[in-house]
Amino acid sequence: MQTEHLARTFVEYFEERGHRRIPGSTLLPPPGDPVLFTTSGMHPLTPHLQGRPHPLGRRLVNVQRCLRTTDLEEVGDATHLTVFEMLGTWSLGDYEGPLSLDWAYGLLTEGLGIDPGLLHATAYAGDGRTGPDTASLRVWEDHGVPVELTVEDNWWSNGPVGPCGPDSEVFLWSGDGPPESTPTRDDRWVEVWNHVTMSHRRLDDGSLVPLPQRNVDTGLGLERLASLLQGEPSVFDCDVFDPWRRLVPALWPLEERPLRLVCDHLRSAVVVLGDGVRPASTGRGYVLRRLVRRVLTVLWRDDPSRGLGDLPDELFRHTLDHFRQDMSPAGVLQVLIEEERRFRRLLERGRQVLARPRFRGPLTEEDFHHLHDTHGLPRELVTTLRQE
Ligand code: SER
Repeated sequence: MQTEHLARTFVEYFEERGHRRIPGSTLLPPPGDPVLFTTSGMHPLTPHLQGRPHPLGRRLVNVQRCLRTTDLEEVGDATHLTVFEMLGTWSLGDYEGPLSLDWAYGLLTEGLGIDPGLLHATAYAGDGRTGPDTASLRVWEDHGVPVELTVEDNWWSNGPVGPCGPDSEVFLWSGDGPPESTPTRDDRWVEVWNHVTMSHRRLDDGSLVPLPQRNVDTGLGLERLASLLQGEPSVFDCDVFDPWRRLVPALWPLEERPLRLVCDHLRSAVVVLGDGVRPASTGRGYVLRRLVRRVLTVLWRDDPSRGLGDLPDELFRHTLDHFRQDMSPAGVLQVLIEEERRFRRLLERGRQVLARPRFRGPLTEEDFHHLHDTHGLPRELVTTLRQE
């Protein structure tokens, strides 16, 4: 099942159950949101989760692109991507968590044909402040799905303050043999769908207050589920990466893990550019710059003559079309080439500066500040150059 088909099946399933589709928004969160990028489908809905009525009603579904920099170091394993799509559903003070789990079970098994024996769930065990999530536990038990109870892993929050609550996660077995162990003990259990009962808000002083309404917020990783349904070993092998997997290795022979990083970061950079961000030394633009520089660092490790100017148009077009973005492939290429030039110049300058006697020994905090403020050399770059 192709990802487009999977997304459509998901949306239709929930439309049949009274949900209205909200158009996905860009990677840029709404004004007032403290994070740089949309990191989950619920982001654009934050005001509505806190009580403001949504024009489309109380049952919503969407497909939302997300970007997570917290997972950058994990990119290259089987399941993490920087930019990914999340299929989401919401009950804004309408139905409760158990019905959402019931539907999830129905969609995964009857709708998508997944063998129920390959499912595992987790649920909130409770702590001193809030009780265990017995309602979720009961749903899973009724369906015969094994459940593991945890405290930390099953309390969802979007940051130190804001809406939060207990969650119940659905895992799918990705191993070759029959399922064994539990999600916290065996990473062949891949988390695919998170159901949060958003019941509380955490305040600045750390205390929890009930929200004016209880919401259900669910998020399913599209590429993760697609790769499992397609019988592929990683998200990089699902259909959204088709042209990347074909064209990048033909250009630059790379080992599997660096290849995944290069494909992920370049594809993510295209989406970020398509949403209107431009490279900069702070904020969103710096995230974009870091993605491009991480790619170049990997490419130049083996061969400094490699350049982004060789990337075929088809890669950009495929990604921009997938996300329905207006930017031209030539425009993307132009920004990438300019960034590459800037990075080459910076590396040259960095090497010259670091060769000075003052910087030969161990570097102090003051040295790092000086290198950054006077020479424009970020700490990450200095560390890389000193390893050369
Ligand atoms: N907010 C939850 C998550 O990000 C479900 O959407 O996992």
